Amino acid sequence: MSRFYITTPIYYINAEPHLGHAYSTMMADAAARAHRLMGDDVFFLTGTDEHGQKVERAARKAGVPTPEFADATAQRFHELSPLLNISNDDFIRTTEPRHFRAAQELWRRVKARGFIYKGSYEGWYCTVDEVFVPDTQLVNGRCPTCGNNVERLEEESYFFRLSAFQDRLHDYYARHPNFVTPPGRRNEIVAFIEGGLADLSVSRTSFTWGIPVPDDPAHVMYVWFDALTNYMTAVGYGSTEEAAASTFGKYWPADVHLIGKEIVRQHGIYWPAFLMAAGLEVPKKLVSHGWWMMNGAKMSKSIGNVVQPAAYVRQFGVDGLRYFVMREMAFGQDADFADEAILGRYNADLANDLGNLVSRATTMIHRYCGGVVPRATPALLTREAEVGLRSGVEALVGRVRAAVESFQFNVALREIWDVIGATNRYIVAREPWSLARDAAKRGELDTALYIAADTVRVVGELVRPFIPGTGERILEMVGVMPSPQSWVALASGALEPGIRIGKTEALFPRIEHSVEELRAMSSDPSQPGPPGAPGAPPLAPTPAPAAAAEPPRIAIDDFMKVELRVAKVLAAERVPKSNKLLKLQVDVGVEQRTLVAGIAEAYEPEAIVGRTVVIVFNLKPAKLMGIESNGMVLAASPDGGKPTLLGFDAPPAPGTRVR
Ligand code: MSP
Repeated sequence: MSRFYITTPIYYINAEPHLGHAYSTMMADAAARAHRLMGDDVFFLTGTDEHGQKVERAARKAGVPTPEFADATAQRFHELSPLLNISNDDFIRTTEPRHFRAAQELWRRVKARGFIYKGSYEGWYCTVDEVFVPDTQLVNGRCPTCGNNVERLEEESYFFRLSAFQDRLHDYYARHPNFVTPPGRRNEIVAFIEGGLADLSVSRTSFTWGIPVPDDPAHVMYVWFDALTNYMTAVGYGSTEEAAASTFGKYWPADVHLIGKEIVRQHGIYWPAFLMAAGLEVPKKLVSHGWWMMNGAKMSKSIGNVVQPAAYVRQFGVDGLRYFVMREMAFGQDADFADEAILGRYNADLANDLGNLVSRATTMIHRYCGGVVPRATPALLTREAEVGLRSGVEALVGRVRAAVESFQFNVALREIWDVIGATNRYIVAREPWSLARDAAKRGELDTALYIAADTVRVVGELVRPFIPGTGERILEMVGVMPSPQSWVALASGALEPGIRIGKTEALFPRIEHSVEELRAMSSDPSQPGPPGAPGAPPLAPTPAPAAAAEPPRIAIDDFMKVELRVAKVLAAERVPKSNKLLKLQVDVGVEQRTLVAGIAEAYEPEAIVGRTVVIVFNLKPAKLMGIESNGMVLAASPDGGKPTLLGFDAPPAPGTRVR
């Protein structure tokens, strides 16, 4: 068993968490989960970076003591874990005593070895980015990174002898060509080192919200010296306890620091130099990802173009969001976040391709095999279609592992979806529903369904790091208990014939709303939660995808539970901000009711007043776009077409039961 220690950046608490932060955490989570499935002993760390002048100022502005301000805002990052199903083993806050001990211990050690000295510093300081900006880098007198005003500061400061590490760092990069990925970022760092390294000011006296410098408490540590140390604190550095020392021995150096591209310099130059100065080992790898952009700019609080992860979890479910970000962003590059793109991927990749495959495979096993995994006929497995699909699945396992190890999650997901597509095509080609009509074709039917179910199992296992809840539900649906280390010996053909499969459930109900409707709904807190979330109705009451196998039949009693009644439309109007919805006032014989119907694309409000329709009378009320709907109007809804209302030759009286 190898050990795998992975970290996210620790996030500044001066901003609310947004999708950019959430992305790093989701990505690290997928890597951590994949390594656990591969049998590694994983430690996964995330947390918050809480010191610095910015935080002190923000607290003052809010009129709250700084520690209270820090507690409240750090909590928002802490809440990301349950929201996004993150499996971190620890959450570190730089304001914790364990971290003070670690940072002071590192400082003492570096100073004792002669790499920290006292001097004075004067320069232009950007309080947003917490850096002194050299004169040559100012852009129109402003910070080149964030564009904010800089301040002239002169203060007594401790310095770290970064210049002493120029050659060692250069040599380190030469000997470890894969230390920073992707390679373009590594080259930038090497060029920066070659340009010459000046000593680094590592303490401040102009504010107090930080870790005091040992033996000189008028100084607090430069926030990056403090922050980078977090990676060691969490695995026991600085603790006097024996157990902590052995944890540190076990997990240090970290295997991967996952970071955004804007903090590669601090991680690729300062951090290794601090560690070399202390005589400690350098982390094995820095993996840097690109930025989520919105309207052409980096998503960030200062620009205000941020996406709130919670709003998207509510609309698309946690796995809808996780799938989208990991599928959409090519490793190392920037990506645009667009509502149209997430809706499109949700419906096409999740509801259609994956949802369809799982539901049709398991539904047919219930229907034709009594809910028990059938046995394939060996001779039939040698046919071209079967050999092709099964070797594709076999190769997929290796490909996904390789893509995960190199953080190419979009590639891993694309490969998995290629196999999902191939399996859907295989089912269509074999037509199990036709084979089922001919008793002589039993062997062919069983073989086709075995292969489909076995592939679903492998797909369920392989998607677990990315969309963990979905992966586990898929495995349960094919009758397999999710196991913690199932990637260790993952191969096709391992599904046991004879086992009973689980109940078929819709994984990702299609979302029929337009992007505009989703936006309007997401700003309305009374709207239902994510599709498929426990206790929350799906956003749109949609039928199973058209290509799915026939759904299981229901008994007459089940049908009779649904009370269909004749209703007459008394008034109709469009629902504001919605293309699809009409608000109707209807007469149902015993009373008048308000309901919301998704028929606005096919019917003008004026044209349906006076019309007789059929409604589901005993449906629980639900809020749609803030309007309580008491019942549902029935209409035929062709795929991709407009709805057509059910009607009568001669309209019966409102309230008449339909059955
Ligand atoms: N506190 C420092 C990191 C210290 S690590 C020892 C910091 N914090 S931050 O709150 O600004 O978060 C930075 C990280 O959040 C980035 O490195 C990146 O991982 C993530 N992102 C923030 N905005 C982002 C995007 N728009 N897109 C993708 N990720 C970005 O820097």
